[in-house]
Amino acid sequence: MTSTDAVILVGGLGTRLKPLTLSAPKPMLPTAGVPLLTHLITRIRDAGVTHIVLGTSYRAEVFSGHFGDGAPLGVELEYVVEVEPLGTGGAIRNVAGRLRGDTVLVFNGDVISGADLPALMAVHEQADADVTLHLTRVADPRAFGCVPTDAEGRVTAFLEKDPDPVTDQIHAGAYVVKRSVIDSIPEGRPVSVERETFPGLLAAGARVMAHVDAGYWRDLGTPGDFVAGSADLVQGIAPSSALPGPTGPALTLPGAHVDPTATLRGGATIGAGAVVGAGAVVDGSVLFDGAVIGDGATVTRSVVGFGARIGAGTVLDDVVIGDRAVLGAGLELRAGARVWPGAQLADGAIRFSAG
Ligand code: GTP
Repeated sequence: MTSTDAVILVGGLGTRLKPLTLSAPKPMLPTAGVPLLTHLITRIRDAGVTHIVLGTSYRAEVFSGHFGDGAPLGVELEYVVEVEPLGTGGAIRNVAGRLRGDTVLVFNGDVISGADLPALMAVHEQADADVTLHLTRVADPRAFGCVPTDAEGRVTAFLEKDPDPVTDQIHAGAYVVKRSVIDSIPEGRPVSVERETFPGLLAAGARVMAHVDAGYWRDLGTPGDFVAGSADLVQGIAPSSALPGPTGPALTLPGAHVDPTATLRGGATIGAGAVVGAGAVVDGSVLFDGAVIGDGATVTRSVVGFGARIGAGTVLDDVVIGDRAVLGAGLELRAGARVWPGAQLADGAIRFSAG
């Protein structure tokens, strides 16, 4: 058996998670108490793969600054930086010089998953495949490109988003590839594996297999998925060996102060040094380090950035508050509202009214 490397693609801009991604790349956002990427790195390590190359671009220095050589997590990490983002395929081609084996596991860096990686690798090996994709089934596949397979598990097409999809199987952002496939990707220009490399392989008659896995899966690309994924990790619905505490209704990090009359539920995370005031409710939300929630405030399905302050009695529901923003008392923000870092909103300045 040849050795296996892992490549994690972490160079995206994370546009859908702005303004949180203005200061940190998406895979570094605190998710159930640790950077999102930590959950994936430990999952790869637990599957027995310890040489991991990060394909970085946007805010590349943040990754190496935090993870270093990977030794504290029991892995060997290398970093390759793209000056201009090269897309998913270009990023994989760009790290080829660091790969050691003939088999490479590739991951998008923003997915939380419980998929069985050894099973994925076994399908790849037994089929002597060129590529083996992890597919997951979703309730509403219309928002995704779909990947139909035949009775032997061979991929038959890569289909774009369709209002009437032929299958509920979608590409889950993880795949095994032969080293020779990586070497065939054109160098020095942006390439998408999903739109160019994989369809090209199919057209050329390559052996593209699928492993459909029923385990937990969520792409944390949007604020709604980000808070839901974090809450699932905290509650043990999503598996992770990197959770810095026991699973339960909430995760409170060291140095946080939660008033005894406050309520934490729904898989909320209270960051280090954060404060939750008397009678406040934090439900299914993520408070980054140093966030302050005033007395009687209610924070539901929301993200509150580093050092942001929320006034007494303010209601947040499905919103993103940028780092160090200061919100006064008695505000009401809902339904996808986003407050930019450092913004200041006076007492009672905004009240949401539906319609
Ligand atoms: P949005 O801007 O909100 O769409 O997020 P994103 O930039 O992360 O894009 P997307 O979610 O489609 O990316 C999927 C994965 O591929 C993420 O882990 C990205 O970090 C990564 N990725 C996307 N484009 C590039 C790229 O050009 N280079 C590298 N190295 N990684 C990329």
